[in-house]
Amino acid sequence: MENILVTGGAGFIGSHLVGRLLSEGNRVIAADNFTLGRKENVAAYAGNPNFELVEMDVQNIDELEALMNKNKIDRVYHLAANSDIQQSAKDPMIDYRNTFNTTYGVLEAMRRTGCKKLFFSSTSAVYGEMTDVNVTEDIGGLAPISYYGGAKLASEAFISSYAHMNDLEVLIFRFPNVIGPNLTHGVIFDFIKKLQANPEELTILGDGTQCKPYLYVIDLVDAIYHYSMKERKGVEIFNIGVENATTVKEIADMVCERLGLKNVKYKYTGGNIGWKGDVPRFQYDLSKIKATGWKPEHDSNGSVKATLDSLDI
Ligand SMILES: NC(=O)c1ccc[n+]([C@@H]2O[C@H](COP(=O)([O-])OP(=O)(O)OC[C@H]3O[C@@H](n4cnc5c(N)ncnc54)[C@H](O)[C@@H]3O)[C@@H](O)[C@H]2O)c1
Repeated sequence: MENILVTGGAGFIGSHLVGRLLSEGNRVIAADNFTLGRKENVAAYAGNPNFELVEMDVQNIDELEALMNKNKIDRVYHLAANSDIQQSAKDPMIDYRNTFNTTYGVLEAMRRTGCKKLFFSSTSAVYGEMTDVNVTEDIGGLAPISYYGGAKLASEAFISSYAHMNDLEVLIFRFPNVIGPNLTHGVIFDFIKKLQANPEELTILGDGTQCKPYLYVIDLVDAIYHYSMKERKGVEIFNIGVENATTVKEIADMVCERLGLKNVKYKYTGGNIGWKGDVPRFQYDLSKIKATGWKPEHDSNGSVKATLDSLDI
């Protein structure tokens, strides 16, 4: 049994991870400021004596240090970040604070308390718009195009230096789009909200051909748990994802079918991107994680279907 801190633990992925860590017999402290997280996401663990939910901004290093000392934290899963990329496109400070500065807060609190083990949730957005190249974990010259991708890449750079200076053992996963139960944002969430408001017409950002891999959250959490528990020195980075992808138009069709709606009129806003900063299509190289024997249970369309099946709509 370990004492584990999950930042962003009341969020979409964090809440699933908290459940998994508790089920493996650990003591889990979830720290969240509820900007995007919700108490309901972790309500199922409220009666568990091994679980505690703490409302705090993890940029507050003194508070974080005190929390980690009090709970003798052995390991941190740092998931706190801004995850609403469209929102921060209007205000870069959101990613500076919640995506980058939370990482600084976590690293500094780890340095002060002597905690050595870290998992960091990075993103395919660090790669920006890389086309016609094989996008492996060690490719250089990364040029993110969103403030969010920039803040995550800056976080990775700070993690690298803190790991070297303080002998940290770090696992970084770069995720693609992650979906599943308790989803709080993203294209599926958006389409459902729009169709519930107007079941006759659906506005689709771009031309609907944007095509991305979707990873099911349960598959991701399983991998986070297994790979984070392995012994390592320094920083290890994996691309994680699925090998096929789903277009926005295909998602619209699947959402309409799930809601039992026929003949919905699709209204495209035009252009080949959803919004400035959006990467319309990408696929990165998964051979490193596949070589270790990892295979997700759901492919991209399967993840969309499983997500729609899990929602109470
Ligand atoms: N969902 C995806 O498709 C996806 C893809 C790539 C990477 N990621 C990364 O995975 C992690 C989890 O994402 P998610 O989809 O669960 O999003 P989420 O928004 O549901 O979770 C992030 C959580 O962090 C919390 N948070 C934000 N700023 C904070 C702060 N200053 N102090 C304390 N808590 C704070 C939010 O309230 C939220 O609960 C994030 O780091 C995100 O960048 C997600």
